[in-house]
Amino acid sequence: MPVWFNPARELDALLRKVAPQVAGLDANFNPELRLSDPRHADFQANGVLPAAKKSKANPRALATALLDALRASGELDESLIQAEVAGPGFINFKLTPLALGAWLREYRDESKWRAGAASIMKGKKVIIDYPSPNTAKQMHVGHLRPIVIGEAVARLIEFCGAKLIRDNHIGDWGTNFGILILAIRRSGFVCDAQSPTALEDLERLYKEGSALTKADPVAMEAARAELAKLQAGDAENLALWHKIVEVSNAACQRIYDQFGLKTDLILGESFYRDKVDRVYTELQKCGLAEESEGALVVWHDDEPRFSRHAETKMPFIIRKKDGSSNYASTDLATLLYRWENFQAEEIVYVTDGRQQDHFQQLFRTGEKWFAATQRPLPRLRHVWFGTILGEDGKAIKTKSGDPVRLQSLIDEATERAFVAVSSKSPDLPEAERHAIARAIGIAALRYADLASNRTMDYAFSWEKLLAFEGNTAPYLLYAVVRVRSIFRKNNLEVGQGEEGASNPETPTEIALARKLLGFTNALDQALDDLRPHHLCTYLHELAAAYGAFYAADTVNVDQPDVRARRLMLCSRTCSILETGLRLLAINPVQRM
Ligand code: ARG
Repeated sequence: MPVWFNPARELDALLRKVAPQVAGLDANFNPELRLSDPRHADFQANGVLPAAKKSKANPRALATALLDALRASGELDESLIQAEVAGPGFINFKLTPLALGAWLREYRDESKWRAGAASIMKGKKVIIDYPSPNTAKQMHVGHLRPIVIGEAVARLIEFCGAKLIRDNHIGDWGTNFGILILAIRRSGFVCDAQSPTALEDLERLYKEGSALTKADPVAMEAARAELAKLQAGDAENLALWHKIVEVSNAACQRIYDQFGLKTDLILGESFYRDKVDRVYTELQKCGLAEESEGALVVWHDDEPRFSRHAETKMPFIIRKKDGSSNYASTDLATLLYRWENFQAEEIVYVTDGRQQDHFQQLFRTGEKWFAATQRPLPRLRHVWFGTILGEDGKAIKTKSGDPVRLQSLIDEATERAFVAVSSKSPDLPEAERHAIARAIGIAALRYADLASNRTMDYAFSWEKLLAFEGNTAPYLLYAVVRVRSIFRKNNLEVGQGEEGASNPETPTEIALARKLLGFTNALDQALDDLRPHHLCTYLHELAAAYGAFYAADTVNVDQPDVRARRLMLCSRTCSILETGLRLLAINPVQRM
């Protein structure tokens, strides 16, 4: 029998398969398999209880019948997985030390885990849309989350076997450009993309323009008019637009480089300017879009909030009344393009939670439009996130009330990491401490952002971010350094010295081995709803299980099989921590 990469998933599939053979269950049976309290079992199937209620059967008898059917299938090897009916009608499954040992020997490195996980998204064509900033202004703290969460989600999806395309859908065709062009015109500023102060100049002008248009509706109208002119192909506005795009893209690129971010495509909103007309025509043709007060809109009467009968009208405006396109027009054109050109089977959008309404309306419109035109709609998912809060519990700002620039955040993280590393390891050469600080600074920013559930707001705190204890990047990076040092001291590479390893035996070995297998569940959980924090929580727990093992079980003992199995546990811990961190786009460091 092969060693299952993910026993929980296999058990779930097996239970579903045999359920129809059991009186009182059918093909729709959901085993509700979940991780169990490790003191009792590894996994527990709870699904018999609701099923018994429905078919008015005795739950324990039904669970016993299901387990009998499972045994009769011959696919459950009880030397590896012990099963028993427990409580009112649960089925408990426990991995034996033999199974734990077999798994550790079989799944020894990243290539094996990748192969094991690849069945989850098997060659599926997925497009992930991130970090997709609005350009024409400098990147600020608000751009941290799409970069960080987007990359982690992308890597997870790739790891689990999808064919992934990263598309940076920059906002380079919207209101922000109208505002900036207006401000440039009013100030008489001459935009020179080569000037060293080009970015600061544009930023200052954008701020002026944005204050002006907020305060004065006439100025707002003028900004809209500039945008409409640009979209209509006005030569002067287009020339200006090119320069702005050049300056702001170069500035974004400097940030991406520091995060090691590389997308496959950069197809911004402007790329779709000649593709929106088709959207208007098609949507009108299939009766989805209609004119309303000069604009072209889509109502969703089947959705109370977006219905024309709603108290506060919220139609999906797909063309503005001055004829210009908007966020919705380009997103609809993008959807069609991604389906036609890339045969996307799934599209993942990574943005702030405040865009939930937009994406709900976009997805609803997409569903109806694709159905009417007999196209298969890709699975559409909105991976949204909450806000980063400052000490005062409000959105993080500088003292002057401006958003914190992303570059200053990176700089401060690096400086603080240098202080932390220098106090922990004063003996390392200064140049190395600087290099480590650069890695840890960015890693800490990333990890703090990923460690909490993405849909929650989180409070930014330098102390927490850079702490060497707790669920932080420095803690995990240091854990890797510590495991690696065992190998260094023994003159071994990670992965060496485990020939003849016996199966885990002591309670701390068994607990660690179980945690290592739990990697598969952490992947499943993180992938299910595209929430990387599940992986963070897992890695933190793994590091703790390793700590307990290391404190209780000496590695360098005389019995060769015991030493070998402990080295095997160390090696798997090291590699899973490293792979897990890399999935979060955090690169391990050699020393710190
Ligand atoms: N540019 C948008 C913003 O900064 C995000 C774009 C997300 N992608 C999309 N296809 N709508 O808020």
